[in-house]
Amino acid sequence: MIIGKPLFSVEQIQKRTEEMATKISSDYKGREIIAVGILKGAFMFFSDIVKLIQVPMAIDFLIASSYVKTHSTGKVNFHAELRENIKDRHVLLIEDIVDTGLTLRNIKDMLLAKNPASLKICTFLDKKIRRQTDIHLDYIGFEIPDKFVVGYGLDYENKFRNLPYIAIFKKTS
Ligand code: IMP
Repeated sequence: MIIGKPLFSVEQIQKRTEEMATKISSDYKGREIIAVGILKGAFMFFSDIVKLIQVPMAIDFLIASSYVKTHSTGKVNFHAELRENIKDRHVLLIEDIVDTGLTLRNIKDMLLAKNPASLKICTFLDKKIRRQTDIHLDYIGFEIPDKFVVGYGLDYENKFRNLPYIAIFKKTS
Protein backbone atom coordinates (compact mmCIF):
# COMPACT_ATOMS: atom_id res chain seq x y z
CA MET A 1 0.00 0.00 0.00
CA ILE A 2 1.35 3.38 -0.95
CA ILE A 3 0.37 6.76 0.33
CA GLY A 4 1.24 9.40 -2.26
CA LYS A 5 2.24 13.01 -1.74
CA PRO A 6 -0.30 15.23 -0.01
CA LEU A 7 -3.16 16.24 -2.28
CA PHE A 8 -4.00 18.92 0.28
CA SER A 9 -1.42 19.95 2.85
CA VAL A 10 -2.07 20.88 6.46
CA GLU A 11 -1.76 24.57 5.50
CA GLN A 12 -4.21 24.27 2.59
CA ILE A 13 -6.71 22.43 4.80
CA GLN A 14 -6.45 25.06 7.51
CA LYS A 15 -6.87 27.98 5.09
CA ARG A 16 -9.90 26.46 3.35
CA THR A 17 -11.52 25.48 6.65
CA GLU A 18 -11.16 29.08 7.87
CA GLU A 19 -12.77 30.38 4.67
CA MET A 20 -15.68 27.96 5.00
CA ALA A 21 -16.20 28.84 8.66
CA THR A 22 -16.26 32.56 7.85
CA LYS A 23 -18.97 32.01 5.22
CA ILE A 24 -21.02 29.77 7.52
CA SER A 25 -20.75 32.27 10.40
CA SER A 26 -21.98 35.05 8.13
CA ASP A 27 -24.85 32.97 6.65
CA TYR A 28 -26.13 31.93 10.10
CA LYS A 29 -25.55 35.28 11.83
CA GLY A 30 -28.15 35.83 14.57
CA ARG A 31 -29.24 32.18 14.59
CA GLU A 32 -28.30 29.16 16.63
CA ILE A 33 -27.36 25.95 14.85
CA ILE A 34 -27.02 22.29 15.61
CA ALA A 35 -23.89 20.93 13.93
CA VAL A 36 -24.20 17.22 13.14
CA GLY A 37 -20.97 15.38 12.35
CA ILE A 38 -21.08 12.15 10.36
CA LEU A 39 -18.67 9.69 11.89
CA LYS A 40 -16.21 8.32 11.65
CA GLY A 41 -14.73 10.15 8.67
CA ALA A 42 -15.76 13.70 9.59
CA PHE A 43 -14.27 13.71 13.08
CA MET A 44 -11.19 15.78 12.22
CA PHE A 45 -12.85 18.26 9.88
CA PHE A 46 -15.76 18.58 12.31
CA SER A 47 -13.55 19.45 15.24
CA ASP A 48 -11.54 21.96 13.18
CA ILE A 49 -14.48 23.78 11.64
CA VAL A 50 -16.75 24.04 14.71
CA LYS A 51 -13.94 25.82 16.56
CA LEU A 52 -14.02 28.52 13.90
CA ILE A 53 -17.78 28.98 13.42
CA GLN A 54 -18.84 32.11 15.27
CA VAL A 55 -22.51 31.38 16.07
CA PRO A 56 -24.00 29.61 19.08
CA MET A 57 -24.28 25.88 18.50
CA ALA A 58 -25.16 22.51 19.90
CA ILE A 59 -23.42 19.46 18.49
CA ASP A 60 -24.44 15.91 17.78
CA PHE A 61 -23.19 12.96 15.73
CA LEU A 62 -24.45 10.23 13.46
CA ILE A 63 -22.46 7.10 12.73
CA ALA A 64 -22.99 5.79 9.22
CA SER A 65 -21.12 3.45 6.89
CA SER A 66 -21.49 2.47 3.27
CA TYR A 67 -17.95 1.65 2.19
CA VAL A 68 -16.13 -1.67 2.11
CA LYS A 69 -12.43 -1.11 1.33
CA THR A 70 -12.44 1.35 -1.60
CA HIS A 71 -15.98 0.72 -2.88
CA SER A 72 -19.37 2.07 -1.93
CA THR A 73 -21.82 -0.74 -1.24
CA GLY A 74 -24.68 1.60 -2.09
CA LYS A 75 -26.36 0.55 1.16
CA VAL A 76 -26.08 2.90 4.12
CA ASN A 77 -25.89 1.41 7.60
CA PHE A 78 -26.59 3.53 10.66
CA HIS A 79 -24.81 2.57 13.84
CA ALA A 80 -26.09 5.40 16.06
CA GLU A 81 -29.02 7.83 16.10
CA LEU A 82 -29.10 11.52 16.97
CA ARG A 83 -29.57 12.29 20.65
CA GLU A 84 -30.79 15.86 20.12
CA ASN A 85 -34.31 16.74 19.01
CA ILE A 86 -33.84 18.72 15.77
CA LYS A 87 -37.46 19.83 15.28
CA ASP A 88 -37.56 23.56 14.40
CA ARG A 89 -33.77 23.86 14.67
CA HIS A 90 -31.18 24.85 12.07
CA VAL A 91 -29.22 21.72 11.24
CA LEU A 92 -25.77 21.89 9.63
CA LEU A 93 -24.62 18.45 8.53
CA ILE A 94 -20.84 18.12 8.45
CA GLU A 95 -19.39 15.39 6.22
CA ASP A 96 -15.84 14.42 5.22
CA ILE A 97 -16.48 13.48 1.59
CA VAL A 98 -19.44 13.09 -0.75
CA ASP A 99 -18.93 10.40 -3.36
CA THR A 100 -22.05 8.69 -4.82
CA GLY A 101 -24.12 10.91 -2.50
CA LEU A 102 -26.15 7.91 -1.30
CA THR A 103 -25.05 8.26 2.34
CA LEU A 104 -26.14 11.88 2.48
CA ARG A 105 -29.33 11.24 0.55
CA ASN A 106 -30.35 8.71 3.22
CA ILE A 107 -29.29 10.91 6.10
CA LYS A 108 -30.92 14.01 4.67
CA ASP A 109 -34.26 12.25 4.07
CA MET A 110 -34.17 10.76 7.57
CA LEU A 111 -33.47 14.16 9.18
CA LEU A 112 -36.00 16.10 7.08
CA ALA A 113 -38.69 13.74 8.39
CA LYS A 114 -37.94 15.18 11.86
CA ASN A 115 -38.98 18.68 10.67
CA PRO A 116 -35.91 20.85 11.27
CA ALA A 117 -36.28 24.62 10.62
CA SER A 118 -33.55 24.24 7.98
CA LEU A 119 -30.96 21.72 6.89
CA LYS A 120 -27.70 22.52 5.10
CA ILE A 121 -24.78 20.34 4.11
CA CYS A 122 -21.12 21.16 4.58
CA THR A 123 -18.57 18.74 3.13
CA PHE A 124 -14.81 18.98 3.14
CA LEU A 125 -14.35 17.03 -0.12
CA ASP A 126 -16.63 16.56 -3.11
CA LYS A 127 -16.02 13.72 -5.59
CA LYS A 128 -18.71 15.16 -7.83
CA ILE A 129 -17.92 13.03 -10.88
CA ARG A 130 -19.10 9.91 -8.95
CA ARG A 131 -22.51 11.23 -7.98
CA GLN A 132 -25.46 8.82 -8.34
CA THR A 133 -28.14 10.97 -6.76
CA ASP A 134 -29.05 14.62 -7.03
CA ILE A 135 -28.11 16.27 -3.76
CA HIS A 136 -27.35 19.94 -3.17
CA LEU A 137 -24.20 20.70 -1.18
CA ASP A 138 -24.21 24.13 0.50
CA TYR A 139 -20.55 24.37 1.51
CA ILE A 140 -17.73 22.53 -0.27
CA GLY A 141 -14.07 22.57 0.73
CA PHE A 142 -12.47 21.08 -2.38
CA GLU A 143 -13.74 19.23 -5.42
CA ILE A 144 -11.51 16.23 -6.16
CA PRO A 145 -11.08 13.79 -9.07
CA ASP A 146 -12.19 10.15 -8.98
CA LYS A 147 -9.35 8.96 -6.73
CA PHE A 148 -9.50 7.18 -3.40
CA VAL A 149 -8.08 9.47 -0.73
CA VAL A 150 -7.06 8.95 2.89
CA GLY A 151 -6.02 11.08 5.84
CA TYR A 152 -7.64 13.94 7.76
CA GLY A 153 -10.27 11.50 9.07
CA LEU A 154 -10.65 9.46 5.88
CA ASP A 155 -9.67 5.82 5.94
CA TYR A 156 -8.82 2.67 4.06
CA GLU A 157 -10.01 -0.24 6.26
CA ASN A 158 -10.05 2.13 9.25
CA LYS A 159 -6.38 3.07 8.81
CA PHE A 160 -4.69 6.39 7.91
CA ARG A 161 -7.43 8.48 9.56
CA ASN A 162 -4.79 10.14 11.74
CA LEU A 163 -2.74 11.61 8.87
CA PRO A 164 -3.00 15.40 9.23
CA TYR A 165 -3.22 15.89 5.43
CA ILE A 166 -5.16 14.35 2.52
CA ALA A 167 -3.27 11.91 0.27
CA ILE A 168 -4.16 9.72 -2.69
CA PHE A 169 -4.19 6.05 -1.73
CA LYS A 170 -2.73 3.46 -4.08
CA LYS A 171 -2.85 -0.28 -3.58
CA THR A 172 0.24 -2.11 -4.75
CA SER A 173 -1.33 -5.56 -5.08
P1 IMP B 1 -21.19 8.06 -0.65
O1 IMP B 1 -22.38 7.52 0.05
O2 IMP B 1 -20.82 7.22 -1.85
O3 IMP B 1 -21.31 9.52 -1.00
O4 IMP B 1 -19.94 7.85 0.29
C1 IMP B 1 -19.66 8.68 1.35
C2 IMP B 1 -18.76 7.98 2.34
O5 IMP B 1 -17.89 7.05 1.66
C3 IMP B 1 -17.84 8.96 3.02
O6 IMP B 1 -18.41 9.45 4.20
C4 IMP B 1 -16.61 8.12 3.27
O7 IMP B 1 -16.75 7.43 4.49
C5 IMP B 1 -16.58 7.11 2.16
N1 IMP B 1 -15.67 7.51 1.06
C6 IMP B 1 -16.00 7.91 -0.19
N2 IMP B 1 -14.91 8.19 -0.92
C7 IMP B 1 -13.86 7.98 -0.12
C8 IMP B 1 -12.43 8.13 -0.29
O8 IMP B 1 -11.90 8.53 -1.34
N3 IMP B 1 -11.67 7.81 0.80
C9 IMP B 1 -12.19 7.38 1.99
N4 IMP B 1 -13.51 7.25 2.19
C10 IMP B 1 -14.34 7.54 1.15
